[in-house]
Amino acid sequence: MIDFVELTKKYPFPEKRPRHHIAPYFYVPFSSLKVVPENYPRPISEINWSEVFVNSKSPNFLDIGCGRGKFLIEMAYIFPDKNILGLEIRKNCVDWLKEVILGERIENAAVVWYNVLNGLNFIENESLEAVFYLFPDPWPKSRHTKRRAMNKDVLFDILSKLIIGGKIYFATDLEVVHYYHIELLQMFNSIRFDEIPHGFDWNLPKTNKEFSCIRRGKPYFRIIAEKIR
Ligand SMILES: C[S@@+](CC[C@H](N)C(=O)[O-])C[C@H]1O[C@@H](n2cnc3c(N)ncnc32)[C@H](O)[C@@H]1O
Repeated sequence: MIDFVELTKKYPFPEKRPRHHIAPYFYVPFSSLKVVPENYPRPISEINWSEVFVNSKSPNFLDIGCGRGKFLIEMAYIFPDKNILGLEIRKNCVDWLKEVILGERIENAAVVWYNVLNGLNFIENESLEAVFYLFPDPWPKSRHTKRRAMNKDVLFDILSKLIIGGKIYFATDLEVVHYYHIELLQMFNSIRFDEIPHGFDWNLPKTNKEFSCIRRGKPYFRIIAEKIR
């Protein structure tokens, strides 16, 4: 198994601690921006997968808000026959991760600088086996809920991209966000879901944020949802 800590030594991250949040305009969809800042990631309608993955195939797994990509890279090693695509809005994380993927020749992992609020048109319908939405930025204040990377439209989009039987994995360390996820899932009758008991090993690599929760003894909440029809 690849050692992420070793990777961070081999590929020093430009900033010691990546900034928690970037400018608020990054967290809104393109369509609602009156003026589009130069450094806002543009919506994407199509991707030529032969330019992304060595096997030219579309992704099997999608990691929304992959951050510095510990989970993404470890998944790529565990599942060498599956392509995993990360979506991340923070450009410095994307640039760093691209350098690591290229440097380590991880042929089944890729990352795109992208705001998921702009839709998943570039992913073929009914093609994804699993979507990971792990420890998203919580935006706990009610006036900031709109900035969350998951909402009814995003979930609808994800469902159209998942195969029947495909899974969505949710994790958060905020109870209010956990209940927000449950409320969203309850809006769709094409989904069944289970809350995962605290401490249960769901056999996935741990994300950076999950490690930080474990280290601090902070509880976190998880859900596995399945597209059933
Ligand atoms: C708290 S971090 C968690 C990173 C990683 N999943 C983990 O568990 O360690 C949440 C990540 O989601 C990214 N993010 C937030 N909103 C996003 C959006 N609309 N589209 C894509 N990425 C987003 C943030 O930049 C950040 O890297």
